[in-house]
Amino acid sequence: MINNSEILVKMSNVHKSFGSNQVLQEVSLELCRGENLVVIGKSGSGKSVLIKCLVRLINHDSGSIEVLNHNIQALTEKQLDALRTKIGFLFQGSALYDSMTVEENMGFAMQRLNKKIQGAELNKLIEEALDNVGLKYTGKLMPSELSGGMKKRVALARTIIMKPEIILYDEPTTGLDPVTSREISRLIVDLQGRYQMSAIIITHDMSCAKITANRMMALINGINYATGSYDSLSKNPDLLVHSFFE
Ligand SMILES: Nc1ncnc2c1ncn2[C@@H]1O[C@H](COP(=O)(O)OP(=O)(O)OP(=O)(O)O)[C@@H](O)[C@H]1O
Ligand SMILES: [Mg+2]
Repeated sequence: MINNSEILVKMSNVHKSFGSNQVLQEVSLELCRGENLVVIGKSGSGKSVLIKCLVRLINHDSGSIEVLNHNIQALTEKQLDALRTKIGFLFQGSALYDSMTVEENMGFAMQRLNKKIQGAELNKLIEEALDNVGLKYTGKLMPSELSGGMKKRVALARTIIMKPEIILYDEPTTGLDPVTSREISRLIVDLQGRYQMSAIIITHDMSCAKITANRMMALINGINYATGSYDSLSKNPDLLVHSFFE
């Protein structure tokens, strides 16, 4: 259930340039508890930069970013690591290590989040996460033995293993056929419901946006150009917005 009074992420007037390339000019957004916010934008518009700024993988230049009530600029590295355990990040491309089995890939990710969880406890979490994405019994497989859709699911399982409060999905369905893409989109909605997760989902896949979005934001010319439900944005007469829905 979406709780509009509880804001988990608040970006205000965020600016980020790389040299003369002004990527984020003045971006503001809020994510409420339980909400799936879909961000759309052309390739190169700064969508990945935006979510990397949220977890300080990239330092923004000005403006403020609050995540789970922390001003992320003010955090020490240690505090930032603690905060990152509550945030799952599904990177663009599945980014699995080819030389490790599915289980090992997941265990490796866990080690970075919490070294204390090991042995039977770790195996149980891995099993549960794989089960959650419909991939029970695949733990011993190598990434090369998986289809593109299965790799996305494993990457998703790895992201949700610690049941993060917030998930940042960067293009969760890119490169997948329409049927698999819909399955992954439904899985995202399932996880939202089952664990009351909140998410920012970056996509140019409008079918994914339609299935997953409670609210959408169009990132255009470095600003939060338009915000609203899928239906309202799809009816927006502004050509810059409308072109995503053609
Ligand atoms: N680490 C970096 N150093 C310099 N420039 C960068 C860096 N990361 C991103 N950029 C630049 O920022 C701009 C936005 O990149 P970003 O990856 O956020 O685009 P995107 O909207 O995610 O695109 P796509 O849909 O293709 O993934 C691009 O011009 C890119 O070259
Ligand atoms: Mg990107």
